[in-house]
Amino acid sequence: MTTIQAVRTADDVMQRAKSESLISPRFYTTDHAAMNRLDVSPVRAEWDAMMAEYEGDNNHDHFQRDESFAAEIRELPPELRAEFLDFLISSITSEYSGCVLYNEIRKNVDNPDLKRLMTYLTRDESRHANFINQSLRDYGLAVDLQNLKATKAYTYFKPKYIFYATYLSEKIGYARYITIFRQLERHPDKRFHPIFRWFERWCNDEFRHGESFALMMRANPHLLRGANLLWVRFFLLAVYATMFVRDHTRPMLHVAMGIDPDEYDYRVFDITTAISRQVFPISLDTDSPAFRAGLAHLVTVSQGYAAAKARGGVLGTLQQAGWAVRGVLTFARLYLHPVKRHDLPAQVRVAPAW
Ligand SMILES: [Fe+2]
Ligand SMILES: [Fe+2]
Repeated sequence: MTTIQAVRTADDVMQRAKSESLISPRFYTTDHAAMNRLDVSPVRAEWDAMMAEYEGDNNHDHFQRDESFAAEIRELPPELRAEFLDFLISSITSEYSGCVLYNEIRKNVDNPDLKRLMTYLTRDESRHANFINQSLRDYGLAVDLQNLKATKAYTYFKPKYIFYATYLSEKIGYARYITIFRQLERHPDKRFHPIFRWFERWCNDEFRHGESFALMMRANPHLLRGANLLWVRFFLLAVYATMFVRDHTRPMLHVAMGIDPDEYDYRVFDITTAISRQVFPISLDTDSPAFRAGLAHLVTVSQGYAAAKARGGVLGTLQQAGWAVRGVLTFARLYLHPVKRHDLPAQVRVAPAW
């Protein structure tokens, strides 16, 4: 059974997109002057090759619907519809979050390497967000992106946090989209909406975006050693745990795609971890039974918290506080769980081979 509330009106959509819960996508702002000092000269050859790929723009014609798109849209059972709309709204919010962040950096820096990169990233994310919005419009709904930009709360992140968080969200975005695409490629009968046919070429954009942040971090190796590894570890866990909890709020979506949420999430973690060895000398041991038990407990905590919040009153508030403490302790235990260590490869870039 789903716990996702159905969105019915434009107001519901905006409220969902603006939601500030721990697991909802956020908007970010950063220190543009510090960003501006970024030097990519230690990775110049790989950087220039990547810039040529952006310029080639192999997806320029991809984000347009084909003739069969409309014909493939079906009426969905109410619970699946609620979860699918929630999935579309949270996806568009993260796509647009990237678009706004990259565009603000683009406008506020004069470092030519950075400015050029941010122009390409903004181009891609704006295509992605608008493409999802077209699918929301089929349901008579859409996210008012200008309004969202003006009214959603922004979280300030130092540039290094932007690098860790954005790198991971681009790479995990790739891993999520390619895993869904491969599953539905094997089981076309489970493809309940045409948008999934777009995911393969789409996720190659996200993969390349991640490559850009990998190069920026490798050009500044102090970001990837010493005390900064404590931050890397934190962001790895925060990104993985958020995804795990969020996906477990959408059981019907996974039933419809014929993939168990645990199986899906651990596959996505495996891919993300394999890729992130290009840049992080540590990775989370997501195969360890103790680690898996911790993530499962976070799902229980988030369900308990949601139920207490819904109950309201003094009792509900106390219960909420109890669940919050349990959540923090579980997160801390997961953070302290031993990580795997490895050396970084000489060549930074990897290919999207999944
Ligand atoms: Fe994107
Ligand atoms: Fe992206």
